[in-house]
Amino acid sequence: MQKEKIIDGKKLAEELNQKLKKQIEITIKKTGIKPKLATILVGDSPASKVYLNIKKKICDKVNIESVSIELDKNVNKNQLLNEINRLNTDTSVHGILLQLPLPQNLIEDTNQFLATIDPNKDVDGLHPMNTGNLFNYNEYLSPCTPKGIIKLLEYYNIDLSGKDVTIINRSRLVGKPLIFMLLKRNATISVCHTKTKDINKYIKNADILIVAVGKPKFIKVDQIKEGVVIIDVGITRIDGNLYGDADFENVLPKVSRITPVPGGVGPMTTHMLMQNTYNTFKNLIKI
Ligand SMILES: NC(=O)c1ccc[n+]([C@@H]2O[C@H](COP(=O)([O-])OP(=O)(O)OC[C@H]3O[C@@H](n4cnc5c(N)ncnc54)[C@H](OP(=O)(O)O)[C@@H]3O)[C@@H](O)[C@H]2O)c1
Repeated sequence: MQKEKIIDGKKLAEELNQKLKKQIEITIKKTGIKPKLATILVGDSPASKVYLNIKKKICDKVNIESVSIELDKNVNKNQLLNEINRLNTDTSVHGILLQLPLPQNLIEDTNQFLATIDPNKDVDGLHPMNTGNLFNYNEYLSPCTPKGIIKLLEYYNIDLSGKDVTIINRSRLVGKPLIFMLLKRNATISVCHTKTKDINKYIKNADILIVAVGKPKFIKVDQIKEGVVIIDVGITRIDGNLYGDADFENVLPKVSRITPVPGGVGPMTTHMLMQNTYNTFKNLIKI
């Protein structure tokens, strides 16, 4: 009974990766060209390295070539801009992902770096042209985590129209793009963050609660409404184990659906990165 409530992102992502792999195989046979994703990592953040390894593994699975460019944390602004421009003009590269957050010395120029990525290779959907498209409800190249969340909700037939959705996060990778994706689907949205006056009011009101704060057990059973759907985006690594933001065992009896951590949103994010790379590839080689 409780098990049926679990939104299995791992299983859905595996199915979708299998389908995508077949599509890519057919395209490679037809064109002789293999899609290629380039990731840039500045610095040596262990968490970012873990994510990049996972991405590389899934790339291998679906037949996407992956190259990872690792730059020293003391690289200067021009060196990073040059590296992005080099990948922009390299016709064998179809997708570019700049791993965020950048180290402190570069962080305030993040917008400029993102705007330098060729918008046609922008698999993270963070170039102003692609964020602008999302403003107009065009999700062709939009951020992978929100895209994965929407796919999960749709697959599990969780209707969004007229629902009260609370998002706890306002970052460019999660909260902001979700606003437009959810509005497009007629949800009523509350966006909470560290300056929200009475966060409990918004949590209690939610039919669907999307939480991405990165604090284990942030959402407790007495805060939520009976029958709420919880999409737990948060990931915290403690002693090699991953934890979400919801107090999973205790909220489970009260929710109607919930994504686990690991095995919920994470695998869907990686799938959407593969899907976005295939989209940019097809567009660039004009098929
Ligand atoms: N599963 C996945 O695929 C995936 C993908 C992306 C991120 N994540 C995870 O999601 C979490 C967030 O990632 P991010 O990159 O969006 O991080 P972020 O930029 O640090 O954003 C965190 C957000 O949570 C809000 N927040 C933090 N503490 C809060 C509190 N006590 N009350 C209310 N709001 C609070 C912050 O508010 P302010 O804006 O006011 O600071 C901010 O909007 C992390 O755990 C990350 O690992 C998972």
